[in-house]
Amino acid sequence: MTTAQTPGARAPCRSPFEPRDEAAYTAWRERKLAGFPASIGELRVRVADGLRLQPAERAAIGEALRRANLAVYRLAEPSSGDKALVRRLGRQFGLERLDDNLCADGDAITSLQVVGRRREGEYIPYTDRRLNWHTDGYYNPPDRQIRAIVMHCVRPAAEGGENALLDHEIAYILLRDEDPALVEALMQPDAMTIPPNVQDGRVLRPAQGGPVFSIDAHGHLHMRYSARARNIEWKKDRLVRRAAERLLGLFEDASPYIFRHRLEAGEGIISNNVLHCRTAFSDDPAAGRGRLLYRARYFDRALIPGR
Ligand SMILES: [Fe+2]
Repeated sequence: MTTAQTPGARAPCRSPFEPRDEAAYTAWRERKLAGFPASIGELRVRVADGLRLQPAERAAIGEALRRANLAVYRLAEPSSGDKALVRRLGRQFGLERLDDNLCADGDAITSLQVVGRRREGEYIPYTDRRLNWHTDGYYNPPDRQIRAIVMHCVRPAAEGGENALLDHEIAYILLRDEDPALVEALMQPDAMTIPPNVQDGRVLRPAQGGPVFSIDAHGHLHMRYSARARNIEWKKDRLVRRAAERLLGLFEDASPYIFRHRLEAGEGIISNNVLHCRTAFSDDPAAGRGRLLYRARYFDRALIPGR
């Protein structure tokens, strides 16, 4: 069992995610499932001005995050969304520390769009191909884990580009309900290893081992995952292998817990880095229809107002 801690962090609180704490888990699970939305519509919040949220808008986004670690906002004026809005929106939920990843623009916010031919081993988010289930930054080292994301749609694709989203706390419940040993196996510090990112003989990122599920210093659940087989080397352990198989089984089309949504212009997602994937899409540049999203990744988890 692993509890991820940043240097200087205080000791973890008691958490329902401790595999041996059955009472805490049972109580939390009951509340979680009772409050879990029946559809993504319950997580949608209309926002008059994203730079200055009204208290009711902020509370509604906070409530969506509390229920499903996910909120979908929609700006009253779709064309008002830019990188400054992404930054300000995040700050209203305590999201401050941005991950300046390899491909982020100079301001540490990434423009997700098709950029034509890139180098060998290009990152899939910059193409129009399907993107498999994952959490963001699963390959980051332990002290740079991505706890939250803001993703804003400036322009949708001409066709396709739908996201599917699954609250990682629900993934944890589904596995633990089947067999607590499965989540315990995935909490081992060596449950998975991300192979190094090597391009032209240069190591851009060394191999990175770690758990799938971990508990942060405040008792929250964190998940690192990619469904792409080549992205992860699973520990050669019977339980870990079984758990990895069961994770793949969660992504069935008919799951009532998976929400699907195609972001329109002026819409965006605030999430505590839940599991997500994206369908393939096609742009129509001649018609000015090229998918453009701004994505900010944070080392902070979204703060819920009033908690
Ligand atoms: Fe992602």
